Amino acid sequence: MNNLREEIGGYFGLDLPEYGALYPQAVHYQSARSALRAVLECQGIHRVWMPAYVCDSVLRAADAAGIEARTYGLDNSLYPSDLPSTLLDDEVVLYVNYFGLCQSVVKRLQTQYLLEHLIIDNSQALFAPHNGELATIYSPRKFAGLPDGGLLLHSSRLSITVPSVEDQGSFERMKYLLLRTSCSAREGYAAFQEARNSLQNLPPMTMSRLTRRLIRSIDWQQVRSRRRDNFAVIAQRLNPMNAIQWLPTDDDVPLCYPLVLRGIDVAAIKAHLTAQNIFTATYWPDALPRLKPGSIEAALAQDTLFLPVDQRLDPTRMEIFVQYILDMLRSLPSDRADQS
Ligand SMILES: Cc1ncc(COP(=O)(O)O)c(C=O)c1O
Repeated sequence: MNNLREEIGGYFGLDLPEYGALYPQAVHYQSARSALRAVLECQGIHRVWMPAYVCDSVLRAADAAGIEARTYGLDNSLYPSDLPSTLLDDEVVLYVNYFGLCQSVVKRLQTQYLLEHLIIDNSQALFAPHNGELATIYSPRKFAGLPDGGLLLHSSRLSITVPSVEDQGSFERMKYLLLRTSCSAREGYAAFQEARNSLQNLPPMTMSRLTRRLIRSIDWQQVRSRRRDNFAVIAQRLNPMNAIQWLPTDDDVPLCYPLVLRGIDVAAIKAHLTAQNIFTATYWPDALPRLKPGSIEAALAQDTLFLPVDQRLDPTRMEIFVQYILDMLRSLPSDRADQS
């Protein structure tokens, strides 16, 4: 009877909903850094221009691929400030779509450089489209509870070989998700760091079937709309005290709300928030030695609170959260709060 080769009956697995693949046409890797390494390993690329303001894992991907990496700075609109205006045939530019808020910068770059010279790192911009660049890379685990995973969309000019070996690490990396679900973020944090570290120094492998299935179980439309709605709530209240005025376009789906507070001890505020079980990311302390003091990148790396806008919050809770942040900032000694 069963010539479908599907299993029928027996014990149950996880009861996961099915929303379909996020990017069905993508090449699926175990991480975004592996996807990037796979791109850079393709013949014909000898130099990649990367922003100095990026995490080390991105620069290491170039190293692992045996490609020369040169770094560039950013102007106040986060557009590259010191890139050569023309590139050699074997050079590419990698640009990070920062915080999911820089799609207009990506569009500007597309008018400045040939698409085949561009790699767009959408690790922080999961919903930003691929527009024919050489490569566009995504890291869905930064937007929802997933153990790992990286996606690559690429132009036909890039002859990529799909990896044949499947990543076997997802089971172990599930630990932090299970700890967060059954215990708390605090109790899962060490496992989260272990999972993240375990993605280092691996050759490109194909995404595990577990991660693929988990990606299909997420309602990405809801993720997208909640993030935009939450961002709108927070931006309306906090933009007046923010050193950068974020104005998301219709294409932008934010990773977080970066609140740039020049001259305020942001590390102390972060520590205070952590004590209240409010966890905020830092992007990226490892980049600091590469950044010019006083630059916009240095302000982002050390003077910025990256406030959550994710789908776990709805706009009503977001209002309460923003009020808490405002009250806390207003309670700072006046010499520190002057900046607002
Ligand atoms: C901008 C950017 N690109 C790429 C990566 C690497 O992503 P993954 O952890 O999926 O390898 C990161 C990771 O932190 C990142 O911040």
